[in-house]
Amino acid sequence: MEDNPAAKKKLDYRDKLILAPMVRIGTLPMRLLALDYGADIVYTEELIDRKLLRSIRRENDVLGTVDYIDKTDGTIVFRTCSRERDRVVLQIGTSDPGRAAEVARMVENDVAGIDVNMGCPKKFSILGGMGASLLSEPKKATDILQKLIETVTIPITCKIRILPDVEETLRLCDTLASTGIAAIAVHGRTIEERPQHPNRNHVLKKIAARLSIPVIANGGSKDIQKYSDVLRFKEETGCNSVMLARAAEWNCSIFRKEGTLPMEDVIKSYLKYAVDCDNSPSNTKYCVQNILRELQESPLGRRFLDAQTLEQICQVWGLDDYCRSKNKEFRNRGLLGRFQITPGIFDKDINNGVSHKRKIYEEDVSLMRCAFLRNCYVTDSELPKSKLLKWTKENHKKMPVYNTRQENKLFSSVVTVDGRKYGSSFWEKNKKWAEQGAALVCLYFLGIVDEKSLTAGGNIIST
Ligand SMILES: Cc1cc2nc3c(=O)[nH]c(=O)nc-3n(C[C@H](O)[C@H](O)[C@H](O)COP(=O)(O)O)c2cc1C
Repeated sequence: MEDNPAAKKKLDYRDKLILAPMVRIGTLPMRLLALDYGADIVYTEELIDRKLLRSIRRENDVLGTVDYIDKTDGTIVFRTCSRERDRVVLQIGTSDPGRAAEVARMVENDVAGIDVNMGCPKKFSILGGMGASLLSEPKKATDILQKLIETVTIPITCKIRILPDVEETLRLCDTLASTGIAAIAVHGRTIEERPQHPNRNHVLKKIAARLSIPVIANGGSKDIQKYSDVLRFKEETGCNSVMLARAAEWNCSIFRKEGTLPMEDVIKSYLKYAVDCDNSPSNTKYCVQNILRELQESPLGRRFLDAQTLEQICQVWGLDDYCRSKNKEFRNRGLLGRFQITPGIFDKDINNGVSHKRKIYEEDVSLMRCAFLRNCYVTDSELPKSKLLKWTKENHKKMPVYNTRQENKLFSSVVTVDGRKYGSSFWEKNKKWAEQGAALVCLYFLGIVDEKSLTAGGNIIST
């Protein structure tokens, strides 16, 4: 990674094909695929400022990525890599200039630009004063943009929806453009309108004619099936650039000048990136589901829906060998997943510095900091709880008893086996995983799994 932001090429938003921000879809594998197919700029999914500020930056030497990891639960908030650094725009959800600026400072060297979401009509955004609520609060919207522009050297943009009144929309665009933003993306529907409503291309045309900064046309996917439709959309809206969401979600090869590729090719290429990026199985599954759409009802689709791990998903398209060998390579090179975070950080941060270890485990519990990573286990019988149950049966012991506590939406479990208690001080997102974590610790103390296999499985641990 280069450290000097000035060495980066400044992003130009003119005459570009852009992958739109899409929650859960716009993660690293899809962005890389879009770049392969011809997208010039790729937006991340909307990332909420507070969540980014809760994260720590880690360079992942095994994957060659930069990861922003949630300190409270170890999940990846934002993963990026040098290949996209000059072309990735991070979209933030924010209602506060100070927080927005803090995020911008934090990510400035890793991204090419920052966009502020001013179009999201979801209740969560509106109630939080973010997204489309900023359309009716131009003072707040411009304060955020100005503060961002003052704070960092990379370009700042925003993405809006049109207002019911054309003149008001034009006035809002003038106000936003006056802040010095590098470009504006406009979705040609109002907050109330749904995707089935026609996109108001004539309003986009008026905005493009009025502003001197690049205007990015968005909202055309319903009528875009092939590359020539993209060009027609650009022509009809008179905008400098085109941003595609759903058309790319369904078939990312829409960015190819040479024409779209069959769905199967797109899925295979996507899956390879998902494996290369160690993408979570749930996110991978969601993205593939949105490519397959009604084909989920087919026999292949049903096999796919049954798959849980990345390897199982890959198997449906004959890529299981690829997945296995990459996983092995990553493990051999020491990929530890969430545990590349400083040990101890979780316990401290969750409870204002009060260690859960001291607070909760008054009893004599054999404790380790051990995460349960679902994608390490292919079959149910390999799961720690299943293994532990089998051990108790074989050794004529009472069945394991789990006692799980919940705090701040996180779970931690203690399992009692043969009169002794075992627990993980790693706080999981749900009860099931917390129990699996406790079972894993118990298996370790019983000598059924060793520390080496825990480390290799990515579960590790500090005792
Ligand atoms: C699955 C999905 C997720 C989306 N997430 C975001 C988002 O995070 N930020 C945003 O500004 N818009 C988001 N949008 C809206 C799109 O970026 C875009 O404005 C809208 O879909 C219209 O463009 P299209 O006709 O090309 O789909 C999302 C749309 C979809 C379908």
